[in-house]
Amino acid sequence: MNRKIVAGNWKMNTLLESAIRLAGDVDSLLAERNPGDVTVILIPPFPFIHNVADVIDRTKIKVGAQNCASEAEGAYTGEVSAAMIESTGAEYVIIGHSERRQYFGENDEILSKKLKLVLENDLIPIFCIGEKLEEREAGKQFEVVENQLKNTILSLNKDDVKKLVIAYEPVWAIGTGKTATPEQAQEIHAHIRKLLGNKFGTDIANQIPVLYGGSVKPGNAKELFAQPDIDGGLIGGASLKANDFVDIINSF
Ligand code: PGA
Repeated sequence: MNRKIVAGNWKMNTLLESAIRLAGDVDSLLAERNPGDVTVILIPPFPFIHNVADVIDRTKIKVGAQNCASEAEGAYTGEVSAAMIESTGAEYVIIGHSERRQYFGENDEILSKKLKLVLENDLIPIFCIGEKLEEREAGKQFEVVENQLKNTILSLNKDDVKKLVIAYEPVWAIGTGKTATPEQAQEIHAHIRKLLGNKFGTDIANQIPVLYGGSVKPGNAKELFAQPDIDGGLIGGASLKANDFVDIINSF
């Protein structure tokens, strides 16, 4: 897998028309200034995935979903399965975003079931981890990310772990305008890669993209992406503006 990735998580924003417009704008801006070797992913709300996939050049831009059900199919009113997502043209699924953990009570057990279904459906998980403000203030950030990986990613087999993307998103930096400094982010990314290396070997650890997320903007992306273990970004707010998003992609 290409380690350079920039993914735009639109969260619960846009309507059908604005989603199509935003995807179209990103597509045309990238046609003019595409750095070439960066995998670009748009992650709209569920109802717009198919429309977004339709308006972009999918050889250059990929589409993803923000979540999926923890069950394969059946009587689960309101849920969206990994297989449904795959059938719309999406190739990636965010699993374990801090907003899902915080507001919807998603724990390791639920996330492991989702991971398994996403992988079974040949989709690529973007697995999110990251500490809360009080955990950082108590100096527990390394321990927190290790615990979030232990019963999920670190319990996968070697074949599956090669097929995923990890995103480190300190909760205190998400949507707050506060970004981790490049040094703060790099030391956690290096720690994540060390944990992956201890479990799966350095070769595999070096293949897994580890993205940074949390208030990434055109003004700070370059410094973050220049760190040796930061392979790109998971972008929230700034991905809703086509120009800013494409500036971030061009920050490598
Ligand atoms: P943000 O969100 O860029 O708005 O901080 C990042 C994320 O939650 O993925």
